[in-house]
Amino acid sequence: MNVPLADPRLLGRQVKRIAISEEEIQERVRELGQAITDSYPDGELLVLGLLKGSFIFVSDLVRSVMRPLQVDFLVVSSYGSDVVSSGLVRLVYDPETTLEGKHILLVEDIVDSGRTLSRVIDVLQERQPKSIEVCALLDKHVSTFLPHPPKFVGFNAPNEFLVGYGLDHAENFRHLPYVASLQ
Ligand code: PRP
Repeated sequence: MNVPLADPRLLGRQVKRIAISEEEIQERVRELGQAITDSYPDGELLVLGLLKGSFIFVSDLVRSVMRPLQVDFLVVSSYGSDVVSSGLVRLVYDPETTLEGKHILLVEDIVDSGRTLSRVIDVLQERQPKSIEVCALLDKHVSTFLPHPPKFVGFNAPNEFLVGYGLDHAENFRHLPYVASLQ
């Protein structure tokens, strides 16, 4: 599929192709919302978005979940790719909402190595939630072993550099309503 050349959001920057269209994303988000609604018949549900990448996905997703819920966000510090210990993750922004006894749905834009998720889940588990599950828009299926594989996945991600719908390259492209791959 060709990127519409008239898209002023690109401002002349080159993208290779639209990997997932706006329509495909919106339809899948509605399906995910239904699956999440069905999975939580009772209890308190707290949707936790991992910033920055999940900001658009969270805002669309929660509007498709037809049950009471709360929304909060997490910001995680990055210590670089050489740091693998889950004990070293630091929450730069800590959710104000209490986690104890609640169903936590952690929302990611993309799971690549899975390290970010693993570390964050380890930290959140200490706060004694009732359950923790992950909803990822995209899963690259790079990791052969994930301690907490996402229960809800929007799309299998192609092995390309993806931008849009929250994903960035040097902080650009996050506002595209579709997912595109860079040249
Ligand atoms: C990206 C993405 C995920 C993480 C996935 O975040 O949003 O959080 O990397 O990679 P992993 O599975 O290999 O850990 P990034 O650090 O680029 O921050 P951002 O969300 O602010 O874009």
